[in-house]
Amino acid sequence: MKKIGLIGCGMIAEQGHLPAIQQVPELQTYALYDRNFERAVELQQQFSVPHAYKTEEEFYSADIDAVVICTPAPVHYQNVLDSAKAQKHVLCEKPLAMTEKEMLEMEKVMNDAGLQFFIGFNYRFSQSALDIHRLLRDQAIGEVRLLRLIYNWHLHGKWEINEDGKQVDTSLRKGRMDEGGPLVDCGVHQIDLARWWLESEVEWQHGIGVWLDTYEAPDHVFLHMAHGCGAHTKVEVSFSYNDTSRDPRTHFLYELIGTDGVIRYNREEHSFELRNSHGTQYLPWHPEKSFAGMYREFANALATGKPGDMPTAKDGILASRIARTATEEAIRNRDKPSINNPSSQISAADVHVHADPEEIPIDFLDLPLKRLKTHNRNPARTSPQQPVKSKYDGKKDS
Ligand SMILES: NC(=O)c1ccc[n+]([C@@H]2O[C@H](COP(=O)([O-])OP(=O)(O)OC[C@H]3O[C@@H](n4cnc5c(N)ncnc54)[C@H](O)[C@@H]3O)[C@@H](O)[C@H]2O)c1
Repeated sequence: MKKIGLIGCGMIAEQGHLPAIQQVPELQTYALYDRNFERAVELQQQFSVPHAYKTEEEFYSADIDAVVICTPAPVHYQNVLDSAKAQKHVLCEKPLAMTEKEMLEMEKVMNDAGLQFFIGFNYRFSQSALDIHRLLRDQAIGEVRLLRLIYNWHLHGKWEINEDGKQVDTSLRKGRMDEGGPLVDCGVHQIDLARWWLESEVEWQHGIGVWLDTYEAPDHVFLHMAHGCGAHTKVEVSFSYNDTSRDPRTHFLYELIGTDGVIRYNREEHSFELRNSHGTQYLPWHPEKSFAGMYREFANALATGKPGDMPTAKDGILASRIARTATEEAIRNRDKPSINNPSSQISAADVHVHADPEEIPIDFLDLPLKRLKTHNRNPARTSPQQPVKSKYDGKKDS
């Protein structure tokens, strides 16, 4: 049994990592640390973890084999350096770090210490992603020429009400956008999948951004990658898709197009199919990520010293590098189209978004006001007087 210490007891620790570790008999969560001690104790009780520590020193000195890092991206660098110093293997959440220099140093210190260092690209372990990997190896769609990987969503909505009763961007949104935006935060999963599925490196890339919002990073990004094998990948990822909508929808799709057919996975429709010259196969659909699958492979890697399918530091570095380079390219070129198209300079800051239904002109919404009031799902959008308290209020990193 390998003992795990987890640092950063936020949303993904609670909903992804800790329940998954419980499903793997070879692993035990033994210690927790969060800079918010109360939060660590809350998860200690919820998941029956033997220890929650008040200081990082106590945490790293605990009798643990590996550290799982679930803190926000800017903290990963220090967490990895501390883990290496304490001689612990690491599974670090994505994105790996904030800069190229940090990522290379993290890789070096872990290598020099002779420790295993993996990245939390859990999409690889979805049974559907594993099936795609096998189907491509079996040439089920002939030679692969194009991957279209789309994840457009609302990042749980745009607004929350702050202590002064003002409608502001959620701290989650501000944090993720300041850390690099949707391609760096979410798109790294798609970049990793493309490299892993095709077993081929990216030789050329191009990033384009669209700004519905006011951050430096684009909130809707297109990335084109050309791989050494001759295939192309198109990634489209957004945090602003329906982010102010009362009834948001998301769009999550994989399409793999080859010389003999198409594999199509649609998360929203729960559909997964293979169409080729032999006919159509409707494959069993699975959610797009699997923390439990990742931890089964992690347990195996810790036991054998062999990475298996675990995403390595190199995978984490390449995905983050591609995502950050594309995002920076998009930012550099932001104003170019606006020479002929001034409307591209309009941003969310220039658009008055009505928060109170009483304020909204009826013809503006094209909806009966009554329905809006009774079917409102997002109190933050329609009741600015009522602060919306989340479970994590006061505990979240911004
Ligand atoms: N792989 C996935 O599917 C997936 C999904 C969501 C988030 N993530 C990643 O997981 C990480 C955490 O995301 P989250 O949504 O749980 O964030 P979160 O803000 O909910 O939680 C972060 C936790 O870290 C704690 N923290 C902050 N700074 C700290 C420090 N210096 N030392 C110790 N604790 C500290 C905070 O108190 C908080 O409890 C991010 O890197 C994010 O990109 C991955």
